[in-house]
Amino acid sequence: MGVYHINGGRRLNGQLNVYGGKNAILPILASVILNGSESIIHNCPKISDTDISIKILEELGCAVKYDGYTMSVDSSSADIHSVSTTLMREMRSSFIFLGGLLGRFHEVTISYPGGCELGERPINLHLEALRKMGAEITEASGFIKCKADDLKGARIDLSFPSVGATENIMLTAVLAQGETIIGNAAREPEIEDLQKFLNGMGAKVAGAGTSQVRIQGVKSLHRVEHTVMPDRIVAGTFLVAAAITGGKILLKNAAPEHMFPITYKLSEAGCTLDMKEGSIYLEAPAKIRPIELLRTHPHPGFPTDMQPQFMSLLTLASGVSVISETVFESRNKHVAELKRMGANIILAQDGTTAVIKGVGKLHGAVVESKDLRGGAALILAGLAAEGKTTVTRSRFVERGYIKIEQDLAKIGADITYEKADDKA
Ligand code: UD1
Repeated sequence: MGVYHINGGRRLNGQLNVYGGKNAILPILASVILNGSESIIHNCPKISDTDISIKILEELGCAVKYDGYTMSVDSSSADIHSVSTTLMREMRSSFIFLGGLLGRFHEVTISYPGGCELGERPINLHLEALRKMGAEITEASGFIKCKADDLKGARIDLSFPSVGATENIMLTAVLAQGETIIGNAAREPEIEDLQKFLNGMGAKVAGAGTSQVRIQGVKSLHRVEHTVMPDRIVAGTFLVAAAITGGKILLKNAAPEHMFPITYKLSEAGCTLDMKEGSIYLEAPAKIRPIELLRTHPHPGFPTDMQPQFMSLLTLASGVSVISETVFESRNKHVAELKRMGANIILAQDGTTAVIKGVGKLHGAVVESKDLRGGAALILAGLAAEGKTTVTRSRFVERGYIKIEQDLAKIGADITYEKADDKA
């Protein structure tokens, strides 16, 4: 827990490596319980959300070893069917353990998940789907109890392509009897990575990356070895860091094929991009151009997880931009903080549409991270601002970035991290 101190105004220039994706590793760690065997996972990012998943796995009785970027988990000794409330409250994706535990033990007790407060974040789609597959679900005193003597494949049409619900259904379905078909499934690249991981342990999953995912239940699963896909949001954040400071960056170990919704908008903002297999090069324009409309949408739309970083970028554009957030209703808590730094942003009353009038410069200020991507956006604004910016409550940023200050310093940022008390 700490704060970031940034002396802004330095042009970033250099090369960075992209590490494994947070939103890929978390569902994978919830699936390792299914095989009752060993899972070896490479390119595993050491972020605080991974640490929470490890604590959950250990609490369930798994043996976990973490060596550099490779994690090995042996779930053969797992025998606990519940996750403690303290760990559940730490992050939203702890809820995916529901599918893993239900699939393996046919019985789970779990509480409501925590995580970044981006809005109401209901779990109705997860629960409706599991009920269709034969789970009896009771909710009382903040706990959800799920039991299923027989888990049966089902046809599940999601009313919204929820990433978490798609993943929970996939995990529940791999060991169920018969076929499960998920209609209007989330199409995020992380769903494809999860399919690869599950198939690596003997599951029969097809269609990930499209809006129909089909899972043919199998009787048992086995040992698996897998390399996690690159983090497209970390990659996007690094690209914006170069763009907002008028710099140049070469990203290695990236997956440009997952990044078109982001790179397309960076081109619209005037950046020059060159994408090759595994790498992305970006050169910032002399002045960022405004984006007429940036609307967030499930993949392959523009990712909500990149919206705050783009808002920081557009505060310095040569005109007026509009951002419309359609996925999370409370994702604009960074707006008030950016305004402290001199940004000109008008947020509509419902909090989802922002009109950003580019200003000539931002100035340093003490600002507070309210959530993971909002915190990253404030760091980016600090890199471009005149003078000193302090971004407090680093714990949000640490949920999704490995020592972001070290990566940014490598390409020329003047940024340091200072440990602070729990409230920081
Ligand atoms: C995942 C990502 C998160 C990203 C989000 C959207 C992980 C670990 N997290 O979160 O970084 O911002 O996708 O791309 O992968 N909804 C319901 N009922 C449900 C479930 C969801 O109404 O049962 C709604 C949510 O309130 C939200 C929308 O669906 O408005 C998207 O949520 P979802 O796709 O489920 O996001 P997460 O899986 O929580």
